[in-house]
Amino acid sequence: MSPEGMHVEVMHGVNLDQLGRRDPLLYGTLTLPELERQVEAHARALGLRTSFFQTNYEGAFVERLHALRGEADGIVLNPGAWGHYAWAIRDALEIAALPTLEIHLSDVKNREQWRRVSVLDGLCFATISGRGPAGYADALALMREELDRRAS
Ligand code: DQA
Repeated sequence: MSPEGMHVEVMHGVNLDQLGRRDPLLYGTLTLPELERQVEAHARALGLRTSFFQTNYEGAFVERLHALRGEADGIVLNPGAWGHYAWAIRDALEIAALPTLEIHLSDVKNREQWRRVSVLDGLCFATISGRGPAGYADALALMREELDRRAS
């Protein structure tokens, strides 16, 4: 842990920069910067420091994961559609070797069949889906508990 306290990287994958333009019934109405501001406020209230990353390029996402080891204490990760097929992201997350929570705004287990696959299965200490933006507050609370548990 750094002297400034626990640091959580909040990562969004492909197409999540388009929040606000995507189906509001599935993804809500917040833009990504608005969602990130809410997440930052929730995290601050829990004594967690945050950083944010989004890209539509799988290689850039992989390289960010490589760089995170030693930089962050945990990851809250919404991979977007990559979560259903991009096995290189699973490998990169294994290399990052940080406590990770997988999150999806929509209820991926109750949509199309192909969304039921998660390449991150078994790597994350928790998964949240279908709770919209409110899921991120739950995600941070679970991350706080997990980091405290690992530190004790
Ligand atoms: C998503 C769910 C994915 O299936 C989809 O491809 C997304 C967003 C979500 O947050 O609900 O882009 O990750």
